[in-house]
Amino acid sequence: MNDKNQTSEGEIEVIYATAEHTKYAKRICELVYESALQRGTGIAKRTPEYIADKMTSGKSVVALDGDRIVGYSYIESWGHGDYVATSGLIVDPEYRHRGLATRIKEKTFELARKRFPYAKIFSITTSLPVMKLNTRLGYKPVTFSELTQDNEFWEGCKGCVNYDVLQRNNRQRCICTGMLYDPKAPAKDQSELLPFYMKLKNNFKNLFTVKK
Ligand SMILES: CC(C)(COP(=O)(O)OP(=O)(O)OC[C@H]1O[C@@H](n2cnc3c(N)ncnc32)[C@H](O)[C@@H]1OP(=O)(O)O)[C@@H](O)C(=O)NCCC(=O)NCCS
Repeated sequence: MNDKNQTSEGEIEVIYATAEHTKYAKRICELVYESALQRGTGIAKRTPEYIADKMTSGKSVVALDGDRIVGYSYIESWGHGDYVATSGLIVDPEYRHRGLATRIKEKTFELARKRFPYAKIFSITTSLPVMKLNTRLGYKPVTFSELTQDNEFWEGCKGCVNYDVLQRNNRQRCICTGMLYDPKAPAKDQSELLPFYMKLKNNFKNLFTVKK
């Protein structure tokens, strides 16, 4: 265990969420909202009820420092179980840069593989840390046409400030980059530089192509 994951009170736990964690749903929404404001980028807003539902249905991961919620992520299946998205990764600002997102992402990926072993796993993101973590887990960058075409998933983007961009581009492109893990062909030995290249491409795309 990484020493940075030790606090004066003890070790930070990264575990599958259950009904007993629904009391943290409101705080998770606040963390997401505050970080979206701070980053000035789009993020799909979720309600405390949505987060609580993910907890009771065994589709999320929490990081706890004693009784304090310090991180979260969830999964959802789409397209009749052909796809599963890993979403909503958040770490409390006071707990960043100590490998916590790495642990949460790994646990969330493990949950997705356990619950939906045959599904393709995907994530859409503008975040360099997430691109890095996904690349290490065997996700590769793909176009949106390779992701689920389930309308309900894309409607979940309605809470994002960039939803108009997605609509304007006929759901084929947006500010986010799509990444996919195919259990039949996981990407292996990808260059450490790939996430940086993706982030650069993402920035250029946003500047010159998507945000007209
Ligand atoms: C993104 C976020 C989850 C990272 O959490 P974290 O616990 O600090 O991440 P980790 O410490 O596990 O770092 C993971 C990797 O990302 C890198 N990283 C972390 N924050 C970074 C930043 N702001 N810029 C560039 N790289 C960063 C780390 O250096 C590390 O890379 P390495 O393994 O090559 O050293 C956190 O900053 C956050 O909650 N941000 C707001 C919400 C968000 O952007 N979520 C993603 C939505 S798709």
